[in-house]
Amino acid sequence: MRIINVKDYHDMSEKASSLLLDVIENNEHPVLGLATGSTPEGLYEQLIAKNKEKVVSFQNTTTFNLDEYVGLDANDSNSYRYFMNEKLFNHIDIPLENTHVPNGVAENSEVECKEYEQAIQNADRVDVQVLGLGLNGHIGFNEPGTSFSSRTHVVELDESTRKANARFFESLEEVPTQAITMGIDTIMESKEIVLLVSGENKAEALKQLVHGEITEDFPASILQKHKNVTIIADKAASTKL
Ligand code: F6R
Repeated sequence: MRIINVKDYHDMSEKASSLLLDVIENNEHPVLGLATGSTPEGLYEQLIAKNKEKVVSFQNTTTFNLDEYVGLDANDSNSYRYFMNEKLFNHIDIPLENTHVPNGVAENSEVECKEYEQAIQNADRVDVQVLGLGLNGHIGFNEPGTSFSSRTHVVELDESTRKANARFFESLEEVPTQAITMGIDTIMESKEIVLLVSGENKAEALKQLVHGEITEDFPASILQKHKNVTIIADKAASTKL
C-alpha cells in the first residue's frame, strides 16, 4: 500500500489526475473505474481542464462506475448517472456509449447486476479504479458485513450512509434504501486502485483501513491485500495515521 500525503483537497485532486493521466497515456484502450460523491469532484475538474487543454483525449477510454441508487433514473439529479454526466462526461470527449453506470431503474435489478458484471468482464479488466471512503469503511456501496467474495449486487443502504448522503436530497426520506454496487471481489480485480481521502471526518476510517484488522466488518480493510493500491490523503485526513 502506497500512501501519498498531500496538503489539501486541491493537491489530492491534482495528484489523482496525474496518476489517471499516466494510465490513459500508457494504454491504447484504457478502462477506468470511477466513483461519485464529494471526494472525486476535484479530480473530475482537473480531468476536464486537461481535456480542454488537449493534454489528454478520452476518445478511446471506457469507464465503469461503482454504483447507482435503485429507483433513480438518469434524469434524476440525485442519480449517479446524472452526477457523472454533469461532473465529467458532458465536458470531455468521451463517447457516452463508452461510459457505464448501473441502471437504477432496470426492470429486474438482479439481471442488471449480472449484465453489469458481464460488461466489466467483457472489457477484460479495469486498469485503475478510483475509490472514496465511507465513514463506516464502505467502498462502493459495500456496507459493513458484505462478503469479500461479492460481485455486483443489490445492497440495502446503511442508515448511517443514507444520513451521510441526505445532504444531497430534500429530506432523509427521499434517500433511496437500496443501491446496485460493484462487489468487493469485482473492485479487488482491478489492476490498480487509487483511493482518495480528504477531511478530518475521514481520519478515523483511514486509520482503520491502513492499520486495522482485515475484516468484513470494515470493507475497505481488504485493500491491505491488493497489490497495487495508492492512497492519496490530505493532511486533515491523515492526522490519525
Ligand atoms: C460513490 C461511492 C461511495 C463514496 C463514499 C464517500 O460512488 O461508491 O463509496 O465514495 O461514500 O463519499 P464522499 O466522497 O461523498 O465522502
